Amino acid sequence: MMYKILETKELAANIFYMVVEAKRVAKACKPGQFVIVRTDEHSERIPLTICDYDTERGTITIVFQIVGAGTQIMSSLKAGDSFHDFVGPLGCPSEFVGEDLETLKTKKMLFVAGGVGTAPVYPQVKWLHQHGIKADVIIGAKTRDLLILEEEMKEVAGNLYVTTDDGSYGRSGMVTQTISDLVNEGKHYDVCVAIGPMIMMKFVCKLTKELDIPTIVSLNPIMVDGTGMCGACRVTVGGKVKFACVDGPEFDGHQVNFDEAMQRQQIYKTAEGRAFLKAKEGDTHHGGCGNCGN
Ligand code: NAD
Ligand code: FES
Repeated sequence: MMYKILETKELAANIFYMVVEAKRVAKACKPGQFVIVRTDEHSERIPLTICDYDTERGTITIVFQIVGAGTQIMSSLKAGDSFHDFVGPLGCPSEFVGEDLETLKTKKMLFVAGGVGTAPVYPQVKWLHQHGIKADVIIGAKTRDLLILEEEMKEVAGNLYVTTDDGSYGRSGMVTQTISDLVNEGKHYDVCVAIGPMIMMKFVCKLTKELDIPTIVSLNPIMVDGTGMCGACRVTVGGKVKFACVDGPEFDGHQVNFDEAMQRQQIYKTAEGRAFLKAKEGDTHHGGCGNCGN
């Protein structure tokens, strides 16, 4: 089974957008989920954010940034080329998808999207829009040229606030600045959903804890198998060991140990690091990835 690429474009420097034919995945897909792809049978498995899905056309839209050899190879694929594997939808759908619609309509939701994290925020806000719910959205980018999906988001968001770290477009400063500004202007939010780099999610959660706004984050640690077997995506949430690929990717942001998650990301990259993690995590270390000598 091959998964044909129907369309590709470069949204910003090193950030790519692809529409892929994957009927079964598209049929089952819900906001909040992700896919794992392989370009050929020997290549690495790459977990990717779902940016959009079209059940009728049977397509999934993915957005990715070049971060290593695998994504570099992916970026050279063109319309007409195919993926060897396109596994999904993986992970749990966003919690609100299962909530009572009338209760959901009474909640004021704020989405905070950082950089490439704007892509997974889009299907969530679109789903809400399709169900008659208008959510506020903040998109943050380092600079104007790295801003993605602004027009698409404008069509589905209640209010859209764009901010750039360098002030080259929209508001000036990081997303946390805009959250503070909106609250100071009198806005009230019942729930915040933050998706972006770990460091952004850490600081958004620090702020929303002070502001007493329950916050959901979507974690994307290193993943290998995406099925809960390898242990690569281990995180600690509320003092408990969780695996982002099966228990998440969404978690209560106020319970996530971000410092440990960020440290583990770095340590996991080397063979020595993985051996260290095996020793440190003891009986609860999975080792199913085969990378730590277990
Ligand atoms: P980036 O570094 O450009 O950051 C995006 C925005 O996050 C910034 O504009 C800023 O507003 C905010 N931010 C960054 N640091 C902050 C801080 N200390 N305090 C408050 N706000 C802060 O983002 P990028 O380069 O596009 O991000 C790439 C990263 O995002 C990669 O690590 C990738 O793995 C991750 N990512 C995560 C998801 C997910 O599901 N969580 C999805 C796609 C990408
Ligand atoms: Fe989650 Fe392997 S990627 S356990």
